[in-house]
Amino acid sequence: MSSKRQILVTNALPYANAALHLGHVLEYTQTDVWVRFQRMRGHECYYLSADDAHGTAIMLKADEKGISAEQHIADMRAIHEADFKDFLISVDNYHTTHSEENREFSELIYNRLNANGHIAKREITQAFDPEKNLFLADRYIKGTCPKCKAEDQYGDNCEACGATYSPIDLINPVSAISGATPIEKESTHYFFKLPEFTQFLQDWTRSGAVQDEVANKLGEWLDSGLQEWDISRDAPYFGFEIPDAPGKYFYVWLDAPIGYMASFKNLCDREGMDFDHYWKADSTTELYHFIGKDIVNFHALFWPAMLSSAEFRTPTKICVHGFVTVNGKKMSKSRGTFINARCYLDHLDPDYLRYYYASKLSGSVEDIDLNLEDFQQKVNSDLVGKVVNIASRCAKFIANGNDGVLSNNIDNPELWAQVSGAAETIAQHYENRDFSKAIREIMAQADAANEYIAAKEPWKLNKQEGMQQQVQDICSQGINMFRVLMTYLKPVVPAMTIAAEEFLNDTLSWESAEKPLLGHQLTPFKPLMIRIEKDKVDAMIEASKEETAQAVTKPLEGPLADDPISGEINFDEFAKVDLRVARIVSASHVEGADKLLQLILDLGGETRQVFSGIKSSYQPEDLEGRLTLMVANLAPRKMRFGMSEGMVLAAGDKKGIYLLEPDSGAQPGQRVS
Ligand code: 2FM
Ligand code: ZN
Repeated sequence: MSSKRQILVTNALPYANAALHLGHVLEYTQTDVWVRFQRMRGHECYYLSADDAHGTAIMLKADEKGISAEQHIADMRAIHEADFKDFLISVDNYHTTHSEENREFSELIYNRLNANGHIAKREITQAFDPEKNLFLADRYIKGTCPKCKAEDQYGDNCEACGATYSPIDLINPVSAISGATPIEKESTHYFFKLPEFTQFLQDWTRSGAVQDEVANKLGEWLDSGLQEWDISRDAPYFGFEIPDAPGKYFYVWLDAPIGYMASFKNLCDREGMDFDHYWKADSTTELYHFIGKDIVNFHALFWPAMLSSAEFRTPTKICVHGFVTVNGKKMSKSRGTFINARCYLDHLDPDYLRYYYASKLSGSVEDIDLNLEDFQQKVNSDLVGKVVNIASRCAKFIANGNDGVLSNNIDNPELWAQVSGAAETIAQHYENRDFSKAIREIMAQADAANEYIAAKEPWKLNKQEGMQQQVQDICSQGINMFRVLMTYLKPVVPAMTIAAEEFLNDTLSWESAEKPLLGHQLTPFKPLMIRIEKDKVDAMIEASKEETAQAVTKPLEGPLADDPISGEINFDEFAKVDLRVARIVSASHVEGADKLLQLILDLGGETRQVFSGIKSSYQPEDLEGRLTLMVANLAPRKMRFGMSEGMVLAAGDKKGIYLLEPDSGAQPGQRVS
């Protein structure tokens, strides 16, 4: 094996304003498998992560919840850390970009860029919300498209006709935050002089630091000319103030990647390690960033240029992956395929998804499809049907025939040499992040092992006189092949590995897989993994739909005065909503649903079933007989518990939910206008 490498690895730091979903989990799985593989090979490999805690979106989210930004990011960090832990992502440190280490490095790097003449300062004109006293990024401005006249379009491009424009060109622009008409206002901004790094980046992006397909894309951007990068934002902004520039803050994307360094510094201080050894300009250590294809410009242009100007080392590799689709389509809330990490964990084991993702990941930026039928089929057939099967078929003969002690002989040395000899090929695939090839090779060896056992039929031999030793030799070879396969799979399925190590009474390492265990005591065999049942997958999709339904029924949180009244609609649009008076004929709890009640509604002759997220505020018996208002023409939604055929109206905030009720005298079925 080559000499010991020193490697730092990061994943893209998730924003501290939303739950993690299965798209995030793809990246963390890819990163974690690679990290675990490197550690198994005897290298020193630190995996660093953190929450990306700054920016306007996070500031507004905290406002909406009526809590401080600090409280909001602390809450989100705890949720994210729990998701990482439960998906068995083996980070060495999980930090936050809102940390003292990150402030210090951000200031240091900025000061060095400035001292090197790489910062420019000039006035720019921007849209400004006069009610909120806030400069508005393009996505916080909405209006009518100047080209096709579609209403309610964002400030930078039209989703209807695809036109791109400046928010100043929108017809009737409004602030999406307050609804006020934006005005234009000047302010001083700070820019990083990226064009001065064009030659450096031409060389760096072609040095093997990114995949070829990514280098080609970057080449197009480089050829069409780089722009100076605006790295400042005006107060109010949740972030770090720029040194000697009161009221000016670093744009979140300046300090986000610096968060990688800050997380490592935090670890170094705790563990007494030498930070500079890893980050100095001529460091011999390696640095890998795993990211999605949407944030390549930040990592492969701005970041290496900043590091180079500030005299730090640049990344060894930016490892770019594609997006996740579910059942061949973009993840969708209404189909229940926008699945949060926690929702998955509530229903299924992390190893299943880790294995499935690994079986599909290559070193390319192609999207990965999570086909739920294929997921179930592949995990059951590969892990349970092939790998666990070897151990479960052989273990009982060794337990019964030799007190659980493996034989001193290997029955078929050639096959053993083949299975254990696949180690280097598989290692190469892991190293190249070509996990799908690694898994294919592992499963080919599992097939060979199963064929061998099927051909030898130890269950028949065991009944024959004088064949007991051969049965022990065959089954010991089976267990040893299982051990090698589990060694190969160890980076992918950590929970299953723990169970296998317990059964084998051995710690699996890449090197020790070369030699079989002979005369070795096993512990009693227990099932190592259970099959995925379809009803678990279905329940997860239904729960995911339910989360969306709750988000629809859930009233906006926070004090009313702070809630933006946004998204103006015209009368025709309003008139499409068929609001009716309805009588609640019956209300009942829904088994397996935390927040929903089942309501049967009388619409004046017609009966509807609606699932409504009001359980926290009402006892079902208190609702029966009451009148309320409902949206009668909402498209029916199929849920695990049945169809939901409309929506009842409720007001509320964090303190409670209040069902709307018409004045006395109203009759079921009457139209509300
Ligand atoms: O795209 C995102 O989710 C960003 N929060 C990623 C930041 S990566 C790094 F720069 F911090
Ligand atoms: Zn348009």
